Amino acid sequence: MRKIFIFDTTLRDGEQAPGAALSSGQKLEIAFALENLGVDIIEAGFPIASPDDFKAVDLVAASIKKSGVCGLARCIKKDIEAARDSLKKAKKPRIHIFLATSKIHLKYKFKKAESEIIELARKSARLARKYCDDVEFSPEDATRSDRDFLYKVIETAVNEGAKTINIPDTVGYSYPQEIFSLISDIGNNVPNIAKAVIAIHCHNDLGLATANSLSGVLAGVRQVHCTINGIGERAGNASLEELVMALKVRKDVFKDFYTQINTKEIYRASHLVSKLTGFVVPPNKAIVGANAFAHESGIHQDAILKKRITYEIMNPRDVGIARTQLILGKHSGRHALAKRLKELGFRLNEQGINDIFKRFKELADKKKDIFDDDLIALAEEETRTRKKTFELVSIRAVTGTDIVPEATVQIKHKRKISQASSSGDGPVDACYKAIDKITNLRPKLLNYKLDAVTKGKDAQGMVQVQIKLKGVSMAGRGASTDILEASAKAYLDAINKIL
Ligand code: KIV
Ligand code: ZN
Repeated sequence: MRKIFIFDTTLRDGEQAPGAALSSGQKLEIAFALENLGVDIIEAGFPIASPDDFKAVDLVAASIKKSGVCGLARCIKKDIEAARDSLKKAKKPRIHIFLATSKIHLKYKFKKAESEIIELARKSARLARKYCDDVEFSPEDATRSDRDFLYKVIETAVNEGAKTINIPDTVGYSYPQEIFSLISDIGNNVPNIAKAVIAIHCHNDLGLATANSLSGVLAGVRQVHCTINGIGERAGNASLEELVMALKVRKDVFKDFYTQINTKEIYRASHLVSKLTGFVVPPNKAIVGANAFAHESGIHQDAILKKRITYEIMNPRDVGIARTQLILGKHSGRHALAKRLKELGFRLNEQGINDIFKRFKELADKKKDIFDDDLIALAEEETRTRKKTFELVSIRAVTGTDIVPEATVQIKHKRKISQASSSGDGPVDACYKAIDKITNLRPKLLNYKLDAVTKGKDAQGMVQVQIKLKGVSMAGRGASTDILEASAKAYLDAINKIL
């Protein structure tokens, strides 16, 4: 089995994502999470870039003991020296130098000839090696570089003692087969390549960063660059969680490889990076998105309850997520509802579940996601009103700023449906007066309270009333996405209880 080294650049390339500035304290917090995950090398920053970057690398270097700590430098003396200084306290320091090798960069960025680039690579690798035993060299934009020139630059860096040669797909232009050939060709055409570890650094401009990195592994790469949640320049970098889980889940393909990542720490690290950078993880993000282990469709939910592997290729616990989530909504089935109600502590018979399921479907038509509190409201209402003397059938109200509110109510009593209308001081008052006409009762309303059961515009309203009838004072509750309906249900609930 061969180890794939995980080089995490969340604190360097990840922080280059527009809008993702981190303080040195926050970087240290993330560095501890990365060390906890078992990352082999943490690229902590670009020390020459700013005093803050220098401070962050220095702080991480002083605090991290198990993982290696790396600082980035251009092939410029002052950069390499800043990297050296920032890494002084590191237990396992690494200097990572980079130099563009593609014609586009040489022509437009550097205005330098190929021979000058080779000389720069030689001098810089030598200088970095003078300061640090562990040097990584990256020919920037390698995937768009002329092959023979690329081989020469790599050979030069290895000759000067670079122990890792990283191949960046800087602009995320490649596709997996190309990466496979490039890495294989480097292995076959750079005479001294056996003295170095080949690494890969893929950007996600075409959404191929993870696929390209994995293709690199199959071609001989032994270190992958990645970031938590895939954050990084532009569309980001290959994401750590995707790479590590792909290597683990597809053991049939990657049978010869392993990483030392403790995958159970993935979710925690993802959450921390999202919180500190302010970059919300999209719900459909592989491995760590809110929907990665959530199932909405009734068919899926039913199958998952029978056997999890029907619709899940990995166990959420393996990435630190407590459990599979069955999102209750209009596609959910009776089986999933009954299970959730049981988990919420309701002991209901078949009939009770059937009744709640019917009302659950009605509610799901009005409200996209059904939260636990919605279910509790439904279940409580069911257990409360199993024997209903008066049952609300429908309610309609006309109201506005310039008209007198009027309500029409239909109520079922002894299998007969009666209807009455009334005006009132407000729609609720009109509704209660219409109910009074049908029930022929005149309870006194002592208290009325309206709360939202859950959050959001489509939240259910929970109405609690207290009434006095025949000398008895009684509380009643009703829930609905329509507050007038909730009001009517609460009023009838109290009346039914007294009767
Ligand atoms: O994308 C890139 O080429 C880089 C280098 C500095 C490795 O981030
Ligand atoms: Zn990059």
